[in-house]
Amino acid sequence: MENTTASIRHSFDLSGRWALVTGARGLALGMADGLSQAGARVVLMSRTCPENPAYPFIQADLSDRESLKKGFNTVMELTGGRLDILVNCAGIQRRHECEAFPLEDWDEVLEVNLTACFELCQLAGSVMLKQGKGKIINIASMISFFGGIRIPAYAASKGGIAQLTKSLAVAWSGKGIQVNALAPGYMATDMNTALLEDPVRSASILGRIPAGRWGTPEDMAGPCVFLASDASDYVSGAVIPVDGAYLVY
Ligand SMILES: NC(=O)c1ccc[n+]([C@@H]2O[C@H](COP(=O)([O-])OP(=O)(O)OC[C@H]3O[C@@H](n4cnc5c(N)ncnc54)[C@H](O)[C@@H]3O)[C@@H](O)[C@H]2O)c1
Repeated sequence: MENTTASIRHSFDLSGRWALVTGARGLALGMADGLSQAGARVVLMSRTCPENPAYPFIQADLSDRESLKKGFNTVMELTGGRLDILVNCAGIQRRHECEAFPLEDWDEVLEVNLTACFELCQLAGSVMLKQGKGKIINIASMISFFGGIRIPAYAASKGGIAQLTKSLAVAWSGKGIQVNALAPGYMATDMNTALLEDPVRSASILGRIPAGRWGTPEDMAGPCVFLASDASDYVSGAVIPVDGAYLVY
């Protein structure tokens, strides 16, 4: 029994593993802290650097494919060419009526939320395939399942994240790489300032969350560590809600 306890604890241990997390505030930081507490060496990559970043920070604009590639190469220089964990968390939101949704906003949302994720999966996947081991965690959304309101580009991008995750899981599960997604519910971060500041919308959202509260970045830490660790070696292609039971209500 003691051996089992020791080995299950060991299976969650990320000591010495390199983790790249895109995004540098909100949910990204909640997951970065979780990975770091489990022993991983975390690197953040984002467009804007937070004040006094707690982890090494690499600047890259994920709406620009050259900048993304350059940023990834810089990360690889820092890690000596190794990457054990990729968390694709950077994302943006744009809200307009569907019939008037500007195509520039559509392009930007799809580029940052979906295409950049795919490109990073390809770059990280190439490294992980050589290692014969790796973990990719994409950040989906409740809007991978629902249509949302005034957010057609975001809905298309997050629906795409769920399907991309499944496609890569099928391709790489036999090669030692697990690809999964976390689907956060309604989380109190800067991305949701507009909803949080609208008393009618925020009350109606809260009333529909069985857990009785909005989620926080810290709520993402445990599920992220699980998917980053050996404990989830037979879990691949899953889209796991982290939502206080919102999805099943
Ligand atoms: N907050 C929620 O309720 C919620 C719910 C479901 C899914 N999500 C998803 O979780 C992820 C993180 O959300 P959050 O709430 O922490 O958002 P946030 O706005 O607080 O953080 C987004 C991060 O992405 C980075 N980013 C944006 N555009 C970028 C670009 N062009 N290049 C590089 N970095 C860029 C920002 O710098 C920032 O660090 C997103 O993918 C979002 O869609 C959030």
